[in-house]
Amino acid sequence: RELTIGIDIGGTNTKYGIVDRSGNVISHGSISTTGYQEFKDYFKGLSEALRKEIAAIPGEHKVLGVGVGAANGNYYKGTIERATNLPWKGIIPLADMFREEFDLPAIITNDANAAAVGEMVYGAAKGMRDFVVITLGTGLGSGFVANGQLLNGKHGIAGEVGHTSVNPAGRFCNCGKRGCLETYVSATGIKRTVYKLLADHLEPSELRGISFDNLTTKMITEAAVRGDVVALAAYEYTGRILGMKLAETVVHTDPEAIFLFGGLSLAGDLIFKPTIKHMEANLMPLFRGKVKVLPSGLQNQAAPIIGASSLVWNYLDNAHNTH
Ligand code: BGC
Ligand code: NA
Ligand code: ZN
Repeated sequence: RELTIGIDIGGTNTKYGIVDRSGNVISHGSISTTGYQEFKDYFKGLSEALRKEIAAIPGEHKVLGVGVGAANGNYYKGTIERATNLPWKGIIPLADMFREEFDLPAIITNDANAAAVGEMVYGAAKGMRDFVVITLGTGLGSGFVANGQLLNGKHGIAGEVGHTSVNPAGRFCNCGKRGCLETYVSATGIKRTVYKLLADHLEPSELRGISFDNLTTKMITEAAVRGDVVALAAYEYTGRILGMKLAETVVHTDPEAIFLFGGLSLAGDLIFKPTIKHMEANLMPLFRGKVKVLPSGLQNQAAPIIGASSLVWNYLDNAHNTH
């Protein structure tokens, strides 16, 4: 059996899986992204975890390569560059490090771009040639597929909608700018909104008194379902900002669908309703009613993992063809 390793390096956790050619994740695990002082310790921890995972694969098999979707991953250079929400600064030559450590080919790409590839090959975008994937986690990631191909861009880093502006005088962003979309629309963004609403209004709310670190998207969703006014207002606000931004994204790319992936998107109507309403209201009339906003077909959190591993199969097939 031929297998690849898929890895998703996110702002909070790093998830990995052993993936077969059909996109089945046959085993998986995770380590904390933030739990190590230095990158070299993190890499050591991750390598050890991967070795254990590989050793535990039952039956005859061969691991052929490593695919990584990482926040601020660079597809052409195989690096992580100036990561917004990762603890390591500067340029990290991750592909080289994996190649050395495991003696396997390694492909690095942006996590959301990997999620888009996963959606195209194995998810709800199968057969679509033009679509956008938005990942809502610690940050906001995006991946664009146009004419059936992932958009990599000139420098291998295309698709950073999370750092386009919502308000030039708005919230501070980890990228160094102000008012970026992800400071409003992401797991962290909606928490900031909840805190702002709690400070500005005196309504009773079950979210009052919870520390920022302990507050989760899930808690906000559950509160909203119970009718908590602050939680409901936070979702409405988040959806409005996302919808307005998607109206711009649509005129740039004319997609068939936009898929939402990750924690916030699991809130269902709470996020989809205001998003769709405000997207439609802000769209150039020519585009109205044409674009579907849908949940990812890979909501089991494996989209970046299987997307990254699919890039490895791609690479191996092409490498094979040229020999
Ligand atoms: C980064 C993106 C990444 C996204 C989701 C953003 O802050 O700039 O590269 O895709 O977070 O992890
Ligand atoms: Na991207
Ligand atoms: Zn930013």
